[in-house]
Amino acid sequence: MFTINDNFRLLPENYLFSEVARRINAFKAAHPEADVIRMGIGDVTLPLCPAAIEAMHKAVDDEGNADTFHGYGPEQGYPFLRDAIALHDYNERGIDIRSDEIFISDGAKSDTGNFGDILGPDNIVAVTDPVYPVYVDTNVMSGRAGSLLGDMWSDIVYLPVTAENGFVPQIPEGVVPDVIYLCYPNNPTGTTLTRAQLKVWVNYALEHGSLILFDSAYEAFIREDDVPHSIYEIEGAKKCAVEFRSFSKTAGFTGVRCGYTVVPHTVMGRDEDGKEVGLNHLWNRRQCTKFNGASYVSQRGAEAVYTPQGQQQIKAAVDYYLNNAKVMLEGLAKAGLEVFGGKNAPYVWIKCPDGMTSWEFFDMLLEKCNVAGTPGSGFGPAGEGYFRLTAFNTLENTIEAVRRITNTK
Ligand code: MLT
Repeated sequence: MFTINDNFRLLPENYLFSEVARRINAFKAAHPEADVIRMGIGDVTLPLCPAAIEAMHKAVDDEGNADTFHGYGPEQGYPFLRDAIALHDYNERGIDIRSDEIFISDGAKSDTGNFGDILGPDNIVAVTDPVYPVYVDTNVMSGRAGSLLGDMWSDIVYLPVTAENGFVPQIPEGVVPDVIYLCYPNNPTGTTLTRAQLKVWVNYALEHGSLILFDSAYEAFIREDDVPHSIYEIEGAKKCAVEFRSFSKTAGFTGVRCGYTVVPHTVMGRDEDGKEVGLNHLWNRRQCTKFNGASYVSQRGAEAVYTPQGQQQIKAAVDYYLNNAKVMLEGLAKAGLEVFGGKNAPYVWIKCPDGMTSWEFFDMLLEKCNVAGTPGSGFGPAGEGYFRLTAFNTLENTIEAVRRITNTK
């Protein structure tokens, strides 16, 4: 009989957001009358911006005409979108990234999850803790995590980010990670790093030959000056970092699917003979084999995000969500809760009151307030005792959720 990849058997039964959805659905089934406000998974609620909609309508028409029809596209993405990204997200910000260093995909979740395909199985992996669960789970799948001891994987290096250290990951002692996942603005804590704080990690990676996998899916939410929009703002990062971006939260593409990964030609790994190999070449090889490109229609939609109208429209949507975050930060603080993040990110990170665990607070909020969030412990051991709410609901629901939580306190 054939065998399976046993690494999958090491994983917890459900992916975090599937488990949260399962529990909310069970509650809804038992209490059909409950008007549950969902602030769990970071899914947007505003419709796509008109510029993207118009471009996608046109792209659909292109597909209906033999002269403008597009079949398989380039696996790396269409030049029109790669060029727009290089220009607007990098070159105009003074960052030298070329179109052929940009790979379009169906989103940052797939790319951050798949990137391990081109990395050696024995690399030591470090993650901030708490962390977006995709990084850890995909390393479990590929055998890099070791075994689960309590709530920690034996071979993963955890870099705690908590209120005690101001949510700034510290350089680990006694071990040198080969691959370091950083996500800033951070999911789940909604906090940021300054340029100086990020520079510490870039310098560390350069000194030790480590690779930084930098997830900047929430870049569009940055409003403060000293927060870097791209890791390539930091000198030397083009030699040690890969950057992931997404149109999901930036432009409401959670359903449409489009994102991209930047793999500079200057990031080199070593093969088993110690010879340097470019990651750009390997990622290209991987994508050509396993991926047929994001759809023409979604890439045309993403391109329209870079027009002046598109830029204005997505900024208005992001401002709307940031205002929701402000409503939560102010309202929950007034209710006596300790709250973090939410200034340059769509996530508000709450210290659970009265010594409650994350899942106890989850149950309490769901049952008493009919508000659903995500328990911090689901993001890692240092998330225990914390709770995440997203700013992606409507303003009305956000105000109502804060009112209900305040009244229960
Ligand atoms: C989240 O809620 O953390 C994100 O929406 C998940 C994702 O982007 O896959």
